[in-house]
Amino acid sequence: MLIIKKAKDLKSNITSLRKQNKKIGFVPTMGALHQGHISLIDKASEENDIVVCSIFVNPSQFNQKEDFDKYPITTSSDIDKLIKSPCDILYLPSLDEIYPDGWNSEAKLDLGKLATIWEGEFRPGHFDGVVQVVGILLEMVLPNNLYLGQKDFQQCAIIKKLISINKYPINTIICETKREASGLAMSSRNARLKDTDIADALILSKSLFFIKNNFEKLNNEELISQAKSMYANNDNIKLEYLAIVDRDSLESLTTEKNNAVVLVVAWVGGVRLIDNVLLS
Ligand code: PAF
Repeated sequence: MLIIKKAKDLKSNITSLRKQNKKIGFVPTMGALHQGHISLIDKASEENDIVVCSIFVNPSQFNQKEDFDKYPITTSSDIDKLIKSPCDILYLPSLDEIYPDGWNSEAKLDLGKLATIWEGEFRPGHFDGVVQVVGILLEMVLPNNLYLGQKDFQQCAIIKKLISINKYPINTIICETKREASGLAMSSRNARLKDTDIADALILSKSLFFIKNNFEKLNNEELISQAKSMYANNDNIKLEYLAIVDRDSLESLTTEKNNAVVLVVAWVGGVRLIDNVLLS
């Protein structure tokens, strides 16, 4: 596996691969790699000639400095995992390589309501940062195929919108969320959970699967109300939102059952966890 740290070196490698008509699959990450990331790399390797993975903890997408400061950095074990995976190129840039002019200077893209509800409301500015860094990475890596995890459902929709607004010739492949045997969605943030937090963290997936398993039996309001009661009377867990929404517009579905996904965000022991399950 080639490890590239400089933007100019990445560009020259990509130019040469493109000249050879190699199909490039790209997996952008912020490191702290787990089986979910590796499954994206495996999928990219099945469908492309070359797999590029990036590790860059992007400061512009953290709306709270404390969250950025606490984000797990595990670069040497990440590299070990990638060497064992079918990743061909790891792009590991410094802040200056990504943002030579600083990260506040970029013009913002108008992403409409998709960027202002749910995560947009609770993490103002978050998607501006995601779009900023993903735009920069896509223009450098020039992939044919981009691989994203479904766990960040709204992020997937936002990145698809970025690709469509900028007319990048890139297919986006959304891969299903990898879960622990317990049901907990794999996430880099899980590393920050204490052993005593795990039972509470499982409430997220339990509430989502309760809704999925009862989706035909109960109406949407009843499902949300019963699922929300699972979070009650527990000081270690703070529910931010739990909602059944349309998969495309992300607008709440009060009665509609088609094209639905249930989204959840909750804080467990001070760690913000996100998850979702497709319903129809
Ligand atoms: O999902 C992530 O890890 C990040 O938001 C991404 C897409 C790598 C952009 O920094």
